[in-house]
Amino acid sequence: MPSFAVLFALAAAAVTSVHADVAATVASLKTATNTVAQVNLLQDQDFVFDFFNATSGVSKGAGGHAVAASVSNFPALVGQGVAMTVGFLEPCGMNTPHTHPRATEILYSVNGTLTSGTIGENGSRFVFNTINPGQATVFPMGSVHYQSNEGCEPMTFVSAFNYEDPGTLSIAQRYLGLPPDVVAASLGNLGVEEVVGIEALLPDNFALGRDECLQRCGLARGTQPSTQRQPRVSGNALPQETSSAASASASASASATVSVASASASAAKREFVPVQARRRD
Ligand SMILES: *[C@@H]1O[C@H](CO)[C@@H](O)[C@H](O)[C@H]1NC(C)=O
Ligand SMILES: *[C@@H]1O[C@H](CO)[C@@H](O)[C@H](O)[C@H]1NC(C)=O
Ligand SMILES: *[C@@H]1O[C@H](CO)[C@@H](O)[C@H](O)[C@H]1NC(C)=O
Repeated sequence: MPSFAVLFALAAAAVTSVHADVAATVASLKTATNTVAQVNLLQDQDFVFDFFNATSGVSKGAGGHAVAASVSNFPALVGQGVAMTVGFLEPCGMNTPHTHPRATEILYSVNGTLTSGTIGENGSRFVFNTINPGQATVFPMGSVHYQSNEGCEPMTFVSAFNYEDPGTLSIAQRYLGLPPDVVAASLGNLGVEEVVGIEALLPDNFALGRDECLQRCGLARGTQPSTQRQPRVSGNALPQETSSAASASASASASATVSVASASASAAKREFVPVQARRRD
């Protein structure tokens, strides 16, 4: 009987080799002469993707999860110009505002009611809809959009994309990963510390959605995982801690690493109120 350690090592090795296999398969499909050659490189089962049992392409938060089949984990898509995501939203779960830089999306509600909002490039108006089971909506390439499960039960949606590598850009996570003073300036001279405090609250996608829904369904927002924030390097670093006053105020807030290089400068603009302290649950 092999030990658990051996089984674990075998499982880990299998996962690594699956990932290496995908990269190697994609590379050989991309250099194949034509589609016939591509089909001949694949086994029958390589044309099947299981959304209910996926080991990759999974994005998960307190409000649900989604499984994405793209060229990254489904090599049969190479050259086919399509991809698909299946979303499993918890009650009041929200797919937070995001955009797909390289594809238009058509989203179909399988068995729940979603609200959906879209805002496109400069000058375009906001589009809002309620999508019932059996209905679909379209999100133009590059538009910022979100979906919220308005029901008190879990629901499923299916999204198709017209490119095999649609990509996802999560608006809040990406935007707040810019240098904090740049974000502060672009938000109308908000304090840097306030920006850092907002970032510290960012829930992972899929997140819990609107207050009205949570109240209607008797749910508490609670603490959500927050692992999808942009890593900091020197170019987008958080402010350095420079004063004991700053460290006292920082440790008083939940965002304990917040520090206040420009505390006196920003005090003149706007008093820092730790964002965490103001959150309603
Ligand atoms: C899920 O996938 C694993 C291997 O990837 C397989 O062993 C297992 O039987 C699958 N489970 C279901 C329910 O399909
Ligand atoms: C972006 O949109 C706003 C509002 O429509 C417009 O006033 C502004 O000039 C646009 N910016 C650019 C760079 O096009
Ligand atoms: C929708 O289907 C999923 C399974 O795919 C199930 O978990 C969920 O409860 C269903 N929701 C409704 C409202 O029927």
